[in-house]
Amino acid sequence: MADEVTVQKARFSDRVRIRSILGRPDGGAGLAGQKVRISGWVKTGREQGKGAFAFLEVNDGSCPANLQVMVDASVSDLSKLVATGTCVTVDGCLKIPPEGKGTKQKVELSVVEVIDVGTVDTATYPIPKTKLTLERLREFPHLRSRTNSISAIARIRHALAIATHTFFDEEGFLYIQTPIITTSDCEGAGEMFQVTTLISHTEKLERDLIENPPPTEADVEAARLIVKARGEAVAHLKSAKASKETITASVAELNEAKASLSRTEERSKLKPGLPKLDGKIDYTQDFFGRQAFLTVSGQLQVETYACGLSDVYTFGPTFRAENSHTSRHLAEFWMVEPELAFADLEDDMNCAEAYVRYMCKWLLEKRYDDMELMAKNFDKGCIDRLKLVASTPFGRLTYTKAIELLEEAVGKGKEFVNPVEWGIDLASEHERYLTEVVFQKPLIVYNYPKGIKAFYMRLNDDGKTVAAMDVLVPKVGELIGGSQREERIDVIMERIEEMGLPVEPYEWYLDLRRYGTAKHSGFGLGFERMVLFATGMDNIRDVIPFPRYPGRADL
Ligand code: 4AD
Ligand code: MG
Repeated sequence: MADEVTVQKARFSDRVRIRSILGRPDGGAGLAGQKVRISGWVKTGREQGKGAFAFLEVNDGSCPANLQVMVDASVSDLSKLVATGTCVTVDGCLKIPPEGKGTKQKVELSVVEVIDVGTVDTATYPIPKTKLTLERLREFPHLRSRTNSISAIARIRHALAIATHTFFDEEGFLYIQTPIITTSDCEGAGEMFQVTTLISHTEKLERDLIENPPPTEADVEAARLIVKARGEAVAHLKSAKASKETITASVAELNEAKASLSRTEERSKLKPGLPKLDGKIDYTQDFFGRQAFLTVSGQLQVETYACGLSDVYTFGPTFRAENSHTSRHLAEFWMVEPELAFADLEDDMNCAEAYVRYMCKWLLEKRYDDMELMAKNFDKGCIDRLKLVASTPFGRLTYTKAIELLEEAVGKGKEFVNPVEWGIDLASEHERYLTEVVFQKPLIVYNYPKGIKAFYMRLNDDGKTVAAMDVLVPKVGELIGGSQREERIDVIMERIEEMGLPVEPYEWYLDLRRYGTAKHSGFGLGFERMVLFATGMDNIRDVIPFPRYPGRADL
């Protein structure tokens, strides 16, 4: 059999992806002798041999490794190619590098022709060869995808998204797209961003009123007089038995005068400021005819599909207007929310655990090279952590037991900023102590006091706790929040009342309990928290392409 090797071209471009070369088990050595076109951005470039040739490290984002590219001065003006950030498309021949150059590369490209160059003004290019801090890189969200770390994170994020869809598809869940604009507050926490066109409309109107002042009462009166005069003219023509054509023409003039009067009256009512009714903003004049918000969670809507299609999930952006400046909070983040019909809290915990472990295995299989980069640059332990999570069952304990363990720790001298007692919402420091110090692995805390959890969580028989669960993981703390849902109409009505929430906006949600109610459960996984956990990055602002947080929404 002929052992001809052919390099795989990108299907929708005439270039070969660098991953198709360097990502092969032989590191690309088996492709030596092949002619290829590659494109990418120069990471580092240096002229050598007194300007006789140049070496470029080129990266196209398909993998963390750079391809070493050798250009002879006879082929191109080298000075245009070597600046960091330059974009090049080159044709060349793959070669085994000469031995003893200390290079790790199994193959390099010897350039035959430079096809295209996107030059860089080195004096102003903000991403130099030397490493910038992650914080500084956030100043350049439009250029930071060129860096090793941000591009590795992007590939890991992609892999986690594909793992998510694959896991739920394999388990028979349907992907449901829940709305981003909503009129109900899922968590009842009042942390919603409002969606409105009232403000921009008001501004436009106010500008318009300055340019074209509204008609005065005298203008309206003048328009009224014209209508009156034309009405009289018509009456006069009719009584004088004028010709049909003359009367028709006069009626047309009257109608025109009436239309002009109504426009004048309408405009005379325009006032600057937001429309008000009984002293409150009149949302019937807003875009949707009512108040609307950006969703904090797709849960309530996805429940409607679970109570009809059984197992479903939603995966989309969610928004919280909380004024948190921590390294774990964003104002816009992505959430994966499965909802399981005919499943109780234990089924829910089993699903959450299987899903997280699946993602860890997936990364080890599909993105090991990127994980190695993360281990080298950011968190030595991240690969071991993935292996541990993929292979070890999560710890499970009740909230009551968790409080006991924390109280024991306090008894032994451990100091927390937030005091520990039954009934508190666990703070991040408590969560991290339990998962990092006590268990040293992910754990699930369940059966929380009802006073600190949302109205939709199922009340336990003790009347004090609800069937809620949080998955806590090292480095991050809370990764997942979920619960069995309250399916009993009388109990959920009581809970809504007890929490002082209005019933009317939730009527449709209550219908799910009124008609064919079903036991069901679900959870929400914060996607950026999962990326943090997997990569070992410290700040959530570096694991989403365009972070939004108080005071910042670039691009
Ligand atoms: O615990 P939460 O608030 O749960 C819900 O929204 C439920 N409706 C989910 C459900 O049952 N379907 O949020 C779920 C997860 C948290 O565990 C956390 O990982 C993440 O979303 N999260 C945030 N991530 C980044 N920035 C924020 N401001 C976040 N708030 C929550
Ligand atoms: Mg939560």
